[in-house]
Amino acid sequence: MAPRKVIAVVGATGAQGGGLVRAIVNDTSGEFAARAITRDVNSAKAQELARMGVEVVSANVDDEKGLEGAFSGAYGAYCVTFFWDHFSAEREIAEARNMAEAAKASGVQHVIWSTLEDTRRFVPLDDDRMPTLQGKFKVPHFDGKGEANGIFTDLGLPVTLLNTSFYWDNFIYFGAGPQPTPDGGLALVFPMGDKALPGIAAEDIGKCALGIFKAGREYIGKAVGIAGEHLTGAQLAQKMSRALNRDIRYTDVPPEVYRGFGFPGADDMGNMFQFKRDFNRDFVGARSLELSRTLNPDLLTFDAWLQKYGSRIPLEQAKTAGR
Ligand SMILES: NC(=O)c1ccc[n+]([C@@H]2O[C@H](COP(=O)([O-])OP(=O)(O)OC[C@H]3O[C@@H](n4cnc5c(N)ncnc54)[C@H](OP(=O)(O)O)[C@@H]3O)[C@@H](O)[C@H]2O)c1
Repeated sequence: MAPRKVIAVVGATGAQGGGLVRAIVNDTSGEFAARAITRDVNSAKAQELARMGVEVVSANVDDEKGLEGAFSGAYGAYCVTFFWDHFSAEREIAEARNMAEAAKASGVQHVIWSTLEDTRRFVPLDDDRMPTLQGKFKVPHFDGKGEANGIFTDLGLPVTLLNTSFYWDNFIYFGAGPQPTPDGGLALVFPMGDKALPGIAAEDIGKCALGIFKAGREYIGKAVGIAGEHLTGAQLAQKMSRALNRDIRYTDVPPEVYRGFGFPGADDMGNMFQFKRDFNRDFVGARSLELSRTLNPDLLTFDAWLQKYGSRIPLEQAKTAGR
């Protein structure tokens, strides 16, 4: 039997990387083996991966040399950054550069860079429909990733640019779930008007990534956009109502109101929703449901995600947030 090809996975104890590690472990073809990258090999989550038989190594995306060691000998690398740990697009770009340089130096044959659109291609800095943030970004947690695409491609890396979507898991973990309304009801609150929000089960990102690695060279040099479904706020609320047996409405608010909600990153999130609303055709069009299902035949619809995880959505939280 041929030796398994190693995929080095950044963020292996988190949502995207963890999904990929589990997808590799559960893949009966045995083509790949996961190498989980963590800052702390002794943490409970890292130990859980080790118990699953996964190789666990230590590296930090702020340290290129350490990443080079972690990527060494691997066939592939899954690269992701952690904007919400520091809120800095510049730092995210520097971390992407570290991963790209490490991938180049270690000679991996396929890199997946988890990215998002550089919204400044659609909303130049002098377009005052939304404020400029951090001096030179419109949606910092998108623009930094999009700008970093060029780092991977300019180095001539065999890279697939993976454009991800809003995790439905945000309804559970990041305060984006239903909010109490003054009349005692519940509402999903965000500024998308009647436009569709591409969404995905976080675990499906890793499963799609495995599909990309399994396809060999097919997606190298390409951008791939993934989503589980494209649903409007009203559709999300209606499906959530039905699954949770509660009356949940969708409340559209102007982006400037959302930006003022006061939670950390509300301005970035407000700009993000406005971008997705105003350039909806481009944003939705870049995320093919059909391709996502080809890459990952187990892709969850929102109804299926609700059935699996809906009971974890907190229904009485006090403030709107998100990431
Ligand atoms: N939420 C959404 O809807 C959404 C949608 C699209 C894209 N995104 C993007 O997804 C990214 C985050 O990915 P995720 O959700 O998979 O993250 P996550 O679940 O928060 O997990 C991050 C993992 O990465 C590791 N990590 C953090 N800082 C690190 C560092 N300096 N060096 C090495 N490892 C580090 C941590 O592991 P250890 O503690 O074990 O080191 C952590 O378990 C963000 O950039 C965000 O913009 C989010």
